[in-house]
Amino acid sequence: MALSHQHWWEMLLLLLLTNAFVLLPWAGAGRIIDGQKVKPHSRPYMAHLKIQRGSQTSYCGGFLIRPDAVLSAAHCVDKEGVRVTVTLGAHNIRLWEWSQQKIRVGHWVVHPKYSRVGLKNDIVLLKLEKNARINKNVQIIPIPDEKESVREGALCNVSGWGWTSMKGHKSNVLMEVELKVQKEEICQQRSSNFQHQSMLCVGDECSKKATSKGDSGGPLVCNKKAHGIVSHGYGDCLFPEVFTRISHFEPWIREQLRRFALQDIPGSPSSG
Ligand SMILES: *[C@@H]1O[C@H](CO)[C@@H](O)[C@H](O)[C@H]1NC(C)=O
Repeated sequence: MALSHQHWWEMLLLLLLTNAFVLLPWAGAGRIIDGQKVKPHSRPYMAHLKIQRGSQTSYCGGFLIRPDAVLSAAHCVDKEGVRVTVTLGAHNIRLWEWSQQKIRVGHWVVHPKYSRVGLKNDIVLLKLEKNARINKNVQIIPIPDEKESVREGALCNVSGWGWTSMKGHKSNVLMEVELKVQKEEICQQRSSNFQHQSMLCVGDECSKKATSKGDSGGPLVCNKKAHGIVSHGYGDCLFPEVFTRISHFEPWIREQLRRFALQDIPGSPSSG
């Protein structure tokens, strides 16, 4: 999850800390806080994104919506010259599990209205170089229609690989936390950048459970559909958090998927 004052935080971190961890871009740190381990391979749509830029590596989450397409957060890939590799079918990301499929990302489309300021329209569609093999451990998750909104008070799950506490213990296995969709006013009070049409205000009022930076791009799953994408929070607070509202972007997503399919036809101008 990224913070709004990204550059300020990056500089502060560089000043305060000197270990190798700090060299990771902001999106690389992460944690599901106060969550629980997921039953292995019970979230077969989950994608682990490895984002490389020169010698720097960061990580994000994402999710498979078609055998050749993964949705994630735009801020995960918003730097020049990054290369992205997706791992599907993973439980323990540090191991070479037989279920894993590592696939390079050929190209991606960041939403044309994505803005780093306030992280508006924080959504990217990644086109895999080859189709994922769909099986027990690797599956797609449906997204809602444009008119299908998730109601306030709904309980949803978010999963990710990352730290499991503020102290920075990283989890190698997929973790999950259950969070509630909140009133938009709660996020509007925090920031004038909150846009209710394109964002979801989510969190645990008790501020014990949360997602954070490295969980960026992962799905908020409500009633078996991916309704949100982990986007950002406010400062060090665990509550509330902002997710990209997928239903708002459904027509845009469908259009990009059609383009991806056209590019796969041999001889088309943008193929290869
Ligand atoms: C979230 O996941 C947990 C653990 O698998 C499950 O018990 C719970 O019902 C899920 N909640 C929702 C809203 O799907």
